Amino acid sequence: MIQVAPSILSADFARLGPACDAMMAAGADLLHFDVMDGVFVPNISFGIPVLKDLNAYTDAPIDVHLMITEPHRYIAQFAENGADYITIHVEAESDVPGTLRAIADHGAVPSISIKPGTPPQAIFPYLTQVGMVLIMSVEPGFGGQSFMPSAIEKAKVLRAECDRLGLWDMLIEVDGGINLTTGRQMTEAGANVLVAGSALFKAQDPAAMITALKAE
Ligand code: DX5
Ligand code: ZN
Repeated sequence: MIQVAPSILSADFARLGPACDAMMAAGADLLHFDVMDGVFVPNISFGIPVLKDLNAYTDAPIDVHLMITEPHRYIAQFAENGADYITIHVEAESDVPGTLRAIADHGAVPSISIKPGTPPQAIFPYLTQVGMVLIMSVEPGFGGQSFMPSAIEKAKVLRAECDRLGLWDMLIEVDGGINLTTGRQMTEAGANVLVAGSALFKAQDPAAMITALKAE
């Protein structure tokens, strides 16, 4: 099954709740919530207070993508304020296993991400600790960039390694430049969670687009 996660970075923040409702009504599975600190990435987005209010507003699962340095300092707050999935970057954390454990201990699904310049092998040691991996198909920091095809091979390598380890339920998420063409390339390579920001929020008919993204 393919899941679609609209990236709310592309939403109108003055109308965030209804924008999320519209995406869920259009068939989305979870809301992708991009947290940027201006240090790990050259942009600042939103954080815990916005998550708290969004979680109180919607029943949708929330997929928190932490593009911040030292994410271990904030795991408890994100988990307690509504994160269902918490993704950290392997490049951002010195104690990756400890931080993934903290995510699980706080009741969220741990997930680990790689930037375009990081090989998939960098996260092999953590696969048994996570329920999801996130392949960045753009440099993190901004919506609306073009998909980097190097993500396709990474999905194949990660899916093969998960299969070898018997991790049949692993979610492989891809984030950045996803549209109908690149989404299909990624699902054929083994990804099963498609993040889409600008493509979905600019779509004339988001429901039709989500249906097409989910078609196997
Ligand atoms: C980029 C973010 C993405 C971004 C994707 O750093 O992690 O989630 O919103 O946006 P699109 O789909 O427009 O590339
Ligand atoms: Zn993201």
